[in-house]
Amino acid sequence: SQLASFVVVANRLPVDRVTASDGSVDWRTSPGGLVTALEPVMRQRGGAWIGWHGAADEQVAPFEHDGYSVVPVPLSAAEYEEYYEGFSNATLWPLYHDTVAFPEFHREWWDAYVTVNRRFAEAAAEAADEGATVWVQDYQLQLVPQMLRELRPDLRVGFFLHIPFPPIELFLQLPWRTEILEGLLGADLVGFQVPGGAANFLRLVRRQTGLKVERDRVQVTDSHASVSRAYPISIDTQGFADLANTPEVIAESEALLEELGHPKRIFLGVDRLDYTKGLRQRIRAMGELFEEGKLNPAEDVFLQVATPSRERVEEYKRLRDDIDLLVGRINSEVGGIGRPAIVYRHAGFPRQTMAAMYRIADVMVVTPLRDGMNLVAKEYVACHPNTGGALVLSEFAGAALELKQAYLVNPYDLNGMKAVLMQAATDPLKARERRMRALKKQVKANTIDHWADAFLGDLAGLD
Ligand code: G6P
Repeated sequence: SQLASFVVVANRLPVDRVTASDGSVDWRTSPGGLVTALEPVMRQRGGAWIGWHGAADEQVAPFEHDGYSVVPVPLSAAEYEEYYEGFSNATLWPLYHDTVAFPEFHREWWDAYVTVNRRFAEAAAEAADEGATVWVQDYQLQLVPQMLRELRPDLRVGFFLHIPFPPIELFLQLPWRTEILEGLLGADLVGFQVPGGAANFLRLVRRQTGLKVERDRVQVTDSHASVSRAYPISIDTQGFADLANTPEVIAESEALLEELGHPKRIFLGVDRLDYTKGLRQRIRAMGELFEEGKLNPAEDVFLQVATPSRERVEEYKRLRDDIDLLVGRINSEVGGIGRPAIVYRHAGFPRQTMAAMYRIADVMVVTPLRDGMNLVAKEYVACHPNTGGALVLSEFAGAALELKQAYLVNPYDLNGMKAVLMQAATDPLKARERRMRALKKQVKANTIDHWADAFLGDLAGLD
């Protein structure tokens, strides 16, 4: 196969291989913001995307997709449990998200993390042409930069962390903190979502290593330096806006309105079913507004879509049960027969359906307890057809630093959140329009192209 001059390495490929119960095999768009963001970058630039195809114990040959090569990396069932569900999603994910759930530390999980990271590094080394640029993505692959540098010193290596980089007091809990730090410093450029993440990282380097740090530049060896900066990620804004304006999406949004019984106001939540997303707090707040009569179930509806995610991990199972219970309880007490106050779907939907939902949502509710960026907030702004919609956004999402004109909330403060939800729903059109215009301007000014150009431009320009 042909060597690539641009290689992306991510735990997930843009498509997942799914086997139906009748044994037939299909490919589906993978979940999550990383794929939403990087897919248009790859379509535009070409190259190779190295990643896992979403099924354990299966070998899949490389193939071409949308103008770039897809190179599947296999995971065994044991590695799926220890590297993916375990170290990535039950150790690092909760730790990096401010321990909103309790991180678990297991030595076998760490061993699997090292093994799998080496496999990804080797696959990247094999796919990359002489002097190629390799861009490693996210917390699942933090050891790859250094491993790759050892295998292929000729490469330019970038790393981008899609989730928050935690305060050092939390990071230092990791028994393998030195190895992870060294892994990341193998990159020529380490990118974070927000300046605070880069600052946390550099503070950690100063505290834990004897390396010379000059502003954002760490001298790792005589011949290798590593720079750390913030690059807030975004979406293909025009692509989403165009999608939302197609006749198919407009028709689908009208069908949705019909199905919902033409409510006066629609509140919408769209998340992976993840404990970082603040779903318990959000549903409680919305439930109380219905119970107190501030919202009227004959006129208002709260539509919550939660995409299944990491379903075998304990915390995720518990969350699913909690949400089922909470929604069931609220709906049994408010709303009419055949007209629930909360419409809750535990399912993933195609992008087209998401665009249709964004079109009809009067108040978009994005209230994570902690989130690296949150692209759903930006998708809503891009897709909502007029400037009358309102975005309620958590202060603890990276997106809040850019989307300053959103209705910002502290998701831990239920009363505060309820007040802002009502304000977003009842503000005069003029006030909502002023905010939405500023938001639309912002998501047009920083698109996924700006993100990729800024990161890759800096990476290419480093000496
Ligand atoms: C977040 C992470 C991604 C991840 C996605 C979906 O956006 O930053 O790395 O791919 O969630 O999660 P999953 O575990 O299904 O890949």
